Amino acid sequence: MRVAITRGVSPAIGRCELTHLNRTPIDIDVAKAQHALYEAVLGELGCRVQRLDEEPDLPDSVFVEDVAVVLDEVAIITRPGVSSRRGERPSVERALEPHRPLAHIREPGILDGGDVLVVGKDIHIGISSRSDTDALDQVQAIVADHGYRVDGIDVRGCLHLKSAVTAVSDDTLLINPAWVDPTDLGGRTCIPIDPSEPGAANVVRVGDTVLVGAAFPRTGERLSAAGFEVRPVDTSELAKAEGALTCCSLLFDVPDSNDGALT
Ligand code: GLY
Repeated sequence: MRVAITRGVSPAIGRCELTHLNRTPIDIDVAKAQHALYEAVLGELGCRVQRLDEEPDLPDSVFVEDVAVVLDEVAIITRPGVSSRRGERPSVERALEPHRPLAHIREPGILDGGDVLVVGKDIHIGISSRSDTDALDQVQAIVADHGYRVDGIDVRGCLHLKSAVTAVSDDTLLINPAWVDPTDLGGRTCIPIDPSEPGAANVVRVGDTVLVGAAFPRTGERLSAAGFEVRPVDTSELAKAEGALTCCSLLFDVPDSNDGALT
């Protein structure tokens, strides 16, 4: 069974961190409605959605992806690159504890889950304003016994590595080549986004379906033409908080017998 951990939109989201965007008003009701639809799509696609309580004092806490990296063997609790986000961790730790052994990124390393792209046994880590080589070394030590290759990739012009590239299958990536160099990505097939849609590379793969931001129809058409099952999802209000589709969930598999661990 596939689990999707999510969290309700904080009423404080208007005070979120912004790096590459100017602040514009966020309609909290629209943001909540879009987020609920996102969760509904994950549910339709067979995920068991486990929604954590809203965090009224943690503006970015809807973006659960950034505080953990869940591998089959271990869940790594990150040390987010901005201190305002570190209080998001305890509730996510409690949610993951029944499913995986936990490991932690320790000071002085910084790591946002949005910078960690796992494709098969490759773990690509974006070296960005939020994630550094100290954390990369820690990840390497944590996964040393599990057969992963870990490398660092320079990210430019966007917040996270996964703003620039995500996987649409085990061997194919969707990429904005203006933000990340395709030759850094291990020789996998790279489908470029439509150049008029720079934010389009962040997609969520659930089984054979690829969730694509509704704001990026041209890139969605490219994926459809390449044979992918595309499902547009509108998270435009959350995009104003510099969050994208992957940011809003932690997806991982559990054996059906572990169902009882979910609340
Ligand atoms: N607003 C998302 C982030 O900066 O972490």
